[in-house]
Order: sequence, then C-alpha cells, then structure tokens
Amino acid sequence: FGTMKTNSEGVLEIGGKSVYELKKEFGTPLYIMDEAYIRETCKLFADNFKSSVLSTEVIYASKAFLNVAMAKLISEEGLSMDVVSGGEIYTAIKAGFPMERVYFHGNNKTRAELELAIEHGLGTIVLDHRQEIDTLEAMLKEKGKTQSVLLRVNPGIDAHTHDYIKTSKLDSKFGESIYDEDIYALTKKLSESDAFDFKGFHCHIGSQIFEEKSFIQAALAMVDFAVDVKEKTGVTVEALNLGGGFGVYYTEEDDPMELGAFLKHLVSNVESKLSEVGLPSLKIMIEPGRSMVSNAGTTLYEIGGTKETYGGKDYIFIDGGMTDNPRPALYSAKYEGAIANKMNEKSTRTYTVAGKCCESGDIIIKDIELPEAVPGDLLAVSTTGAYTYSMSSNYNRNGRPAVVFVKDGSARLAVKRETLEDLVRNDVL
Ligand code: LLP
Repeated sequence: FGTMKTNSEGVLEIGGKSVYELKKEFGTPLYIMDEAYIRETCKLFADNFKSSVLSTEVIYASKAFLNVAMAKLISEEGLSMDVVSGGEIYTAIKAGFPMERVYFHGNNKTRAELELAIEHGLGTIVLDHRQEIDTLEAMLKEKGKTQSVLLRVNPGIDAHTHDYIKTSKLDSKFGESIYDEDIYALTKKLSESDAFDFKGFHCHIGSQIFEEKSFIQAALAMVDFAVDVKEKTGVTVEALNLGGGFGVYYTEEDDPMELGAFLKHLVSNVESKLSEVGLPSLKIMIEPGRSMVSNAGTTLYEIGGTKETYGGKDYIFIDGGMTDNPRPALYSAKYEGAIANKMNEKSTRTYTVAGKCCESGDIIIKDIELPEAVPGDLLAVSTTGAYTYSMSSNYNRNGRPAVVFVKDGSARLAVKRETLEDLVRNDVL
C-alpha cells in the first residue's frame, strides 16, 4: 500500500523510513501513518466525487482516526470534517480547523457538547431525533441564534456487514425512519423554526460495505424521499448527505470497490435521478472515514518471544495487542502482517499473533504464515489506520502507543507515547 516497500536489506520501509529507524526513534508499539498516501486518498475523493451540475462536499469521518495533526491535514486538503463528541470538536478547535466546515453527529449529544458547538460556530448539526430537536431549538432561542441543521433519517437499507456496524435497519438507534408518517410534520417544523436553517437530510447505511448497489439504492431512496417531502410539505431540500461506509481491503477475503469509479458512478446516478424526478440541483455530501485512512496505517510491534504450546498452537507474542487494536477481539476482524525485518525470507511457520493483555481473546492475527520469528524481530500489521488508535484503551494499564506521520524520508510525531505518569495522572489519592 502507498509508499511501503522492502529495502535492499529486506527491511520494510514506509514513507522512506525503515522500520528500524522508526523503532529507534519512537519505540514500539507504534502507529505509522503514510502521509503521502492519506493526502493522495483525500485528492482521489475530491477529484471523483464532483459534478458539473451539483455541488459536492467530502466530509472526513474523524472517528476513524483523529488527532490535531490529522485535523490539520484534512483542513489543508480542503475537506470538511464530521465529529461525534466534545472531544472531537475540541480537537478540531485546537487544530484551527475551519469550524464552518464541521458536521456534528450523534444520537445523544450532551448539552455541554451542543454549547461547545454553538459557541464555536460549528457549521452544521446533524439532528438525530425529536427530543434533541426540541432541546437544541430551546438552546438556540435562548441565545437568539440560528443554526444550520440536517436531519438524520433512516432509509431502512439492510447492508451486508457486521451487525455491530450496521446503522440503517428499521430498529437502528440512529435517525428517524423515512417510513414514519410523522417525518413530514417534523421536517415542516424544522423548516419553519427561526432557530434552524434547515438544509436537508443525512443517512448512513453502515460501515465496511462492499456492494456498490447498497449505496446507490440508499442514495436513490434519499432522492425519492426528498420528492415526497416536497410534495407533502412544500419544503425543498437543499442538501443530501449520503454518509460513508465504503469497504476497504484488510485481507484477501475483502474485495473493495474501485473508489474512483464508484464515486463517479454514485454521482452520475444521483444526477440522472434528480433530473428524472424534476428536483432542482442540490448539494450532495459523503462522509468517508475508514476508506480515507485505513490502508495508510501500519502498526509496528516488537516480538518479545514465541511459544510452542502442547496443544499444537505456535504463538508470537507482541508488545501491544487489543489495547491498540481492539477490532479482532470486537468484530473478529482479520489482518495481514509480516516480520518487517525479514521481508525477503520465506514463510516456514504458521503462527498465531497474541497481544500482551490478560485475555485469551487478545489475538491480533490467527494462523499467519511467517518466517521463523525470534525475540527482537519486528512485526508489522498493515491496514491499521482506521478505528485502531481511535478505539484504543488503557486496559491492563497499558499506555497508548505513539502516532507518527512519515513522508519523503522523514517522520514527525503526531501523538506522544503515553508514559507511566500519564496513566496515573487523573488518579486521586
Ligand atoms: N458517517 C456516520 C454517520 C458514521 O456513523 C460513520 C461510521 C461514518 C460516516 C464513517 O464510516 P466509514 O467510512 O468509516 O465506514 N468501529 C467500527 C466502525 C464503526 C463505524 C461507525 N460509524 C470498526 O472498527 O469497524
């Protein structure tokens, strides 16, 4: 992926930095982000999700991977950003991210988070449900402010992915169903309220989805819904946010869509549908998270030892695990890896890669073919750019690894490694 290559010594290099250099400078475990590759992906989205008749906007779903350096990168690339918590809002503020380009999601935004958003001129709040609408309306009226909003709706598309990351089934906790007759009254209320500048609707059908047809189906359902809304309420929708969820390659079992072609296809389908139903031109948005960063990330671990068990399983023990990547334990997610200092050596062993947490389920990769491993070797696990650092924990009081951005032979620290002192910082005697 990206700028990954094997150098003449058989050692993995990313962004022109060998894993030995990275280990020496920053230690392990280490999240390595290939900056040129992320920027290239940002451009791929911007260049392909565009239209001569519709305005378009690419919104990075920051929950996939966020820190101040990443927010700065997204801002430099001219993309917008989706946030789902006070912490993500605050990171955007700290990075000097243009707040008018921020979208605030969530099914239970707290008052404090809404205050923070309003105070800092956050561009668009994506409303989730009736009670939230009432709460926010009252807050805005009190302040005499008007806020741009979208309403999240649920088009009931059952996309094929892991149950935990499906978001658009009819009983989903997110959004209001388009099949609920009350949705029209709700829309009218939003468009008539002085507190809101109602822009349109949002939907997101799930994550790590490979079928182009699910996205197109959802997009067309949203256009149909916009037509219904116009007929029943007289409200003309200005914008449709079609969400994210584009699947990526983790292992050979995954067959992702070719992104550029898919995005072009999505836009042209929406364009023709709009002209067919006679709706005026509107703005369409997408919110990729995983597909923006996943393949650009690699986690580097040091192998502490190996163990041949009586039961026949051979383990490699690494100095990280479910604390820096909970996805295998949580979703049975699969990853590929390599011994990064033995890239040219033949695979002769079948190993299970286990982390250091006190959990039998702390397995990062099951049954991987690798060269013989010895303590001190470095294991690189690829495609760890999304939902790893952002979902990391301090379980067993392990500190979170550092994050570095590598590019053109240099590495810059984006997030420091957590120290022992960091781990007790908030403890009160
Ligand atoms: N927009 C909304 C409203 C979302 O809820 C999400 C993801 C996205 C956009 C971005 O989806 P993406 O393009 O990254 O698939 N932790 C899980 C993934 C949870 C996704 C949650 N929402 C995992 O590690 O697989």
